[in-house]
Amino acid sequence: MPNDWYEWHDLYNTEPKLQQRLEIVREYIAYSLNASPDGAIQIVSVCAGDGRDLLGTLQNHPRAKDVSARLVEINSNLVERGLATIESLSLTRQIELINGDATLATNYVGAVPADIVIVCGVFGNLADEGELNRLLDNLSFLSKPGAFVIWTRGHSNGFPYSDNVRKILSASGFEEVQFKLTATGDMGVGLHRYVGENLPQPKEQQLFVFSGVPSKAR
Ligand SMILES: C[S@@+](CC[C@H](N)C(=O)[O-])C[C@H]1O[C@@H](n2cnc3c(N)ncnc32)[C@H](O)[C@@H]1O
Repeated sequence: MPNDWYEWHDLYNTEPKLQQRLEIVREYIAYSLNASPDGAIQIVSVCAGDGRDLLGTLQNHPRAKDVSARLVEINSNLVERGLATIESLSLTRQIELINGDATLATNYVGAVPADIVIVCGVFGNLADEGELNRLLDNLSFLSKPGAFVIWTRGHSNGFPYSDNVRKILSASGFEEVQFKLTATGDMGVGLHRYVGENLPQPKEQQLFVFSGVPSKAR
């Protein structure tokens, strides 16, 4: 059991579910980059970890030069590791990885609205459906109209939580572009488009509450 989120990331070395999830997330990031019109592409990643999903995609992607991104992560060790990767890929002028609280609207100012919003490993760490609705509602601050939103949701105790997320997204003004379960069958990865308007000011300063703990997260 991981004691903190830095240790949780070690599970990527051993857990097929997380490895398959990462592969699909990178595929969806690449799809979103390919589908973006010519010119600048703005990206934000909420609770970004060490940024391996975006950074691993950009290292081989022809649109990497068009990307500006802000990744927000609270664990300083993960930020340190992510910054080292950003430097090794010569992306320091384009990619910010800030050590901050991703639940606060202020940490996105200057980097939104985005064309691509990455919210991976977040939905399963919200207290309940009400909190998911709150976060989805607040995505109107982070997202341009038509923005791609990439998300993950694990299943547990045989309950297909990602089915519920897909229903809630459809009811909240998001159009499904792609959805896959990992081969392990217990992790959903989705790519949706936000079809509402951008809100230049957040409805609330706290966009959501992240209440998950690493020892229980999957
Ligand atoms: C399940 S991990 C997912 C990490 C990454 N998005 C991924 O998919 O590999 C959840 C991440 O959220 C981060 N986190 C938790 N609370 C946070 C907060 N309030 N602000 C920013 N990051 C937070 C944790 O440190 C951890 O890296």
